[in-house]
Amino acid sequence: MKVSKIKGTLDYFGRDVKKYRYIENVARSISKQFGYLEIVTPIFEATEVFARGVGEGTDIVNKEMYTFLDRSEKSLTLRPEGTAGVSRAYVENKMYVDPGLKKLFYFGQMFRCERPQAGRYRAFTQFGIEALGPGSAYLDADVIYFGYLFLQKLGIKNVKVAINTIGSKSGRAKYEEALKEYFSEHIDEMCNDCKTRLEKNPLRILDCKVDAKSDIMKNAPKIIDYLSEEDIAYFDKVLKCLDKLGVEYVIEQKLVRGLDYYNHTVFEFIYDDKNSNIDGLTLLGGGRYNGLSRQFDGPETDAIGFGTGVERLMLVLDELGLFKDDEKLVDVVVINIGEETKLEALSLAAFLRSNNVSCEIDYVSSNLKPQFKLSERVNAPYIIIIGSEEVENGVFKLKNTILKTEEMRKIEELNEIFNIEGEKYAYKK
Ligand code: HAM
Repeated sequence: MKVSKIKGTLDYFGRDVKKYRYIENVARSISKQFGYLEIVTPIFEATEVFARGVGEGTDIVNKEMYTFLDRSEKSLTLRPEGTAGVSRAYVENKMYVDPGLKKLFYFGQMFRCERPQAGRYRAFTQFGIEALGPGSAYLDADVIYFGYLFLQKLGIKNVKVAINTIGSKSGRAKYEEALKEYFSEHIDEMCNDCKTRLEKNPLRILDCKVDAKSDIMKNAPKIIDYLSEEDIAYFDKVLKCLDKLGVEYVIEQKLVRGLDYYNHTVFEFIYDDKNSNIDGLTLLGGGRYNGLSRQFDGPETDAIGFGTGVERLMLVLDELGLFKDDEKLVDVVVINIGEETKLEALSLAAFLRSNNVSCEIDYVSSNLKPQFKLSERVNAPYIIIIGSEEVENGVFKLKNTILKTEEMRKIEELNEIFNIEGEKYAYKK
């Protein structure tokens, strides 16, 4: 029976897995620069972590979660995102007891049952950061700057930074009331999903892709008219900080983000290249989510963070030719001439490997052609060639594939050539 991978999932190997790990390494190193420490939370959680955390009225919770009953009939869900689990862990492990901010990052797989397409998968990887603790406009700007610098470090420059504020909870509640009133009058002309959204969560109507360009949407109430002076002053301060940090942004009043926990500053980094078929793809999204900790019975805590889709970043690296794979896989390939020296070749390889020199041999063939093919495949800078004559005379042929030189060397010189300290290698005749 042929078994294939599940639609919307990916296998990584060869060059792709290197690209994936390259992004991970950049993510880890920038996290260190900004003082974020790693957190690993379970890949599945009790369903209510996401239902309460992400919000009952969101597409993620309503349509996209992989939810199942375990053997004791408890409802579990594969995490669709990182923030809810991190907030749950923050409260459960009483991280709030430590004074100041908890700055955490994660890099791991998430699961959403979405319709697969370029840049949208059912199992995908997010690199995310969360800063939980006393909030400030300076921190908001610093988190956005983190995302900006991360993409810059990957070489991704053509990105639009869209930013908005959805105000404090009370401002947002007033706005939701206004939206409800407004859309109630037009709901017959809107899509079925919007009809449900009107009941459950009117803010989500603004995310609707179907009705996005309609006049009804264009004339909808604007959040700015429902915000308090403090909310506006806070947002202005974030923008001022971004100006100072040199981050160019566009204020997008309709940007409300698809998850319920947000308040105040929200942002998205969007790939911006009109000639590309991934133009408009959101590479990174985040915002402030003060008070999410209350959903897990923790103390009221301010928080902000973002998540970025690693597979989307891989697509962009490919598109812009930003990932170069010239890594050599091994330092040396040991080639033997004739079957009688295969064991000596294996022993020499074992010596090199045990002394931290990466090494490859052909386990099957003693013909020269396949052995040279192997050294090409692994891009080895050195090739050692031994036959019974070399073993007899205590020498080996050393080829340098970069300088294109070859010479006979004494077997005692092996240590010096590969910087090996300690006991020398000797042929066992
Ligand atoms: P999100 O906007 O749902 O936010 O996802 C963040 C990023 O994950 C997106 O911008 C995108 O790059 C990537 N992503 C989302 N869904 C998929 C998918 N199906 N396939 C591939 N990539 C995808 C969050 O998840 C929030 N937890 C972000 C956050 C952290 N907010 C505050 N802290």
